[in-house]
Amino acid sequence: MSDAPSPSPSLTTAPPATNLQGARIIAITSGKGGVGKTFVSANLAAALTRRGQRVLVLDADLGLANLDVVLNLHPKITLHDVFTGKAGLEQAVIAAPGGFSVVLAGSGMVEYSRLTPEVRNQFLNVIQTLAPRYDVILLDTGAGISDVVLFSVSLASEVLIVATPEPTSLTDAYAAIKVLAMQQKRQHVRMVVNQAARPGDGRAITSQLQQVLERFVTTDSGRPLRLIHMGDIPADLAVRDAVMRRQLLLLNTPGCPAALAISQLAGKIEETLLTRAG
Ligand SMILES: Nc1ncnc2c1ncn2[C@@H]1O[C@H](COP(=O)(O)OP(=O)(O)OP(=O)(O)O)[C@@H](O)[C@H]1O
Ligand SMILES: [Mg+2]
Repeated sequence: MSDAPSPSPSLTTAPPATNLQGARIIAITSGKGGVGKTFVSANLAAALTRRGQRVLVLDADLGLANLDVVLNLHPKITLHDVFTGKAGLEQAVIAAPGGFSVVLAGSGMVEYSRLTPEVRNQFLNVIQTLAPRYDVILLDTGAGISDVVLFSVSLASEVLIVATPEPTSLTDAYAAIKVLAMQQKRQHVRMVVNQAARPGDGRAITSQLQQVLERFVTTDSGRPLRLIHMGDIPADLAVRDAVMRRQLLLLNTPGCPAALAISQLAGKIEETLLTRAG
């Protein structure tokens, strides 16, 4: 597998944000695009909501947002309006069909494809303001290792990498994980394998990737970065159907294999990351 590009100097020292109060912040990210991050974010949010968690999904893919499309929402106020001072953050928080909250970026926020100090501050402010009100905030990030993606991931205490079994997706996942270990000093990253062909595929793929990381990537502690397999989601025609109808899979076809897998993933996330007092 190829080496990741050198880290950009502006982000090399940025540690994962662990000092934000309130919600557990989980970045849902990937090396390659189109692997199912937005589908997983939206449906995982619905599954966690059903389990009694207070959930917000933030569309952190500022340049190429599509959470609104998947949820069939037509927001009047987006992050862009908040960032430019045209609207308050309260107005940008909207209710999604699954019973959770979302803040949408709106498509075509091309001016945010570059990370400026203003965008950083705005982004951080939004999360700091919202975190106390929720149990979990899912950041639906863009793909890859651009500054904007890495910055949004740096705001999360936990990272969930989505990858498919395709070699291109796995090579890109490896590159992204390597950058997260080096720039953000991550000791572990969580992984979900989407569009798995057979049960057990995801676990095998995760351990293969772990072996490569053990050979080539060492964290500050001297130990290899640990990849934690959180689950697999099977390739399922019902997913495409739900996306075409712009409905949540968990509402459209709750009993299909992919929906059941997402519910199981929600259970595992709740168990391992969201032990809530009261
Ligand atoms: N488990 C699955 N089974 C079948 N099709 C799937 C599955 N997961 C995702 N897809 C298909 O992949 C498409 C892309 O998914 P999605 O938009 O969530 O990817 P993404 O990673 O957010 O993309 P981007 O990088 O562009 O943001 C979906 O519209 C759906 O058709
Ligand atoms: Mg997406």
